[in-house]
Amino acid sequence: MTGNPYIPKLAVIKDIKDEAPNVKTFTLQIQDGGKFSFESGQFVELTVFMYGEAPFSISSSPLIEDSFQLTIRKMGNVTTALFRKKEGDVVGIRGPFGRGWPLSEATGMNILLVGGGIGLAPLRSAILYMLEERRKYGDITLLYGARTPRDLLYKDEFDEWRKGIDVHLTVDRGEPGWKGRVGVVTVLFDEVDLNPKETICLQCGPPIMMYFVTKKLLELGFPEDHIILSLERLMKCGMGFCGHCTISGRYVCMDGPVFKYSEIKGFLERAV
Ligand SMILES: Cc1cc2nc3c(=O)[nH]c(=O)nc-3n(C[C@H](O)[C@H](O)[C@H](O)COP(=O)(O)OP(=O)(O)OC[C@H]3O[C@@H](n4cnc5c(N)ncnc54)[C@H](O)[C@@H]3O)c2cc1C
Ligand code: FES
Repeated sequence: MTGNPYIPKLAVIKDIKDEAPNVKTFTLQIQDGGKFSFESGQFVELTVFMYGEAPFSISSSPLIEDSFQLTIRKMGNVTTALFRKKEGDVVGIRGPFGRGWPLSEATGMNILLVGGGIGLAPLRSAILYMLEERRKYGDITLLYGARTPRDLLYKDEFDEWRKGIDVHLTVDRGEPGWKGRVGVVTVLFDEVDLNPKETICLQCGPPIMMYFVTKKLLELGFPEDHIILSLERLMKCGMGFCGHCTISGRYVCMDGPVFKYSEIKGFLERAV
């Protein structure tokens, strides 16, 4: 990163895709035409000028550097203003920030991905990377849950993902026509046969999901440093200066957002 890290770069919205109710994927390109390099699991601070700034995980593959994608749920001030934007409009981007998924460290291992709701966004970046680099990994399994079938993200990509990944889906509430599982994401563990010693689990979702998934993984015998979680905290600077994101002396923006369970053990209940 060069220049003043508080000053955002301008980025043009190249494409906006409806993903699910109140969720859109924005494709962005840095305006000066420069490359945007990042690691899967890192995040950016996005500014909607006149409205403010908020952190979002990058949801696209790190192997594509001339544009990048953010998948965003409409929540409050910044996201509501962003949802009014059109293709060709300009936003501000700072980053990428933080520590991403340990995908190099996980080479040669089986990968279990567990996602809940919008938490699939940073996992999608890892999925797209691993599909491109498929030979580097053993079995790859995705367990993904959303509130209803309509809330499932990236529905039109699942068939492509299934060429390299074993995909398992569940929803909290079914709808007419839904033939898949109904229940929280942990119900999907009974569909898969895992080898904990040879598997790394990457998870991102609501705090309560990550708490129960971690509990399940420990019961199954997963070593603590095979359990990798992406945490969310209220953030401002994204660079370790303001202290807004600290948990037990760690900065989620810099030391995370991706942590090994072994690093946050003892305060997982507060961390998730
Ligand atoms: C590292 C990181 C990555 C993220 N990645 C994504 C992503 O990929 N897609 C996405 O849609 N969102 C993501 N978020 C969450 C997003 O930053 C917040 O939803 C953001 O506050 C939205 O801004 P807003 O101004 O629209 O809403 P606000 O007006 O700030 O807030 C709306 C409501 O959400 C609450 N809130 C705000 N931030 C958080 C938070 N971090 N955790 C819990 N509650 C919060 C507020 O208290 C308020 O009730 C991420 C957050 C972090 C820290
Ligand atoms: S967001 Fe400022 S220190 Fe982490």
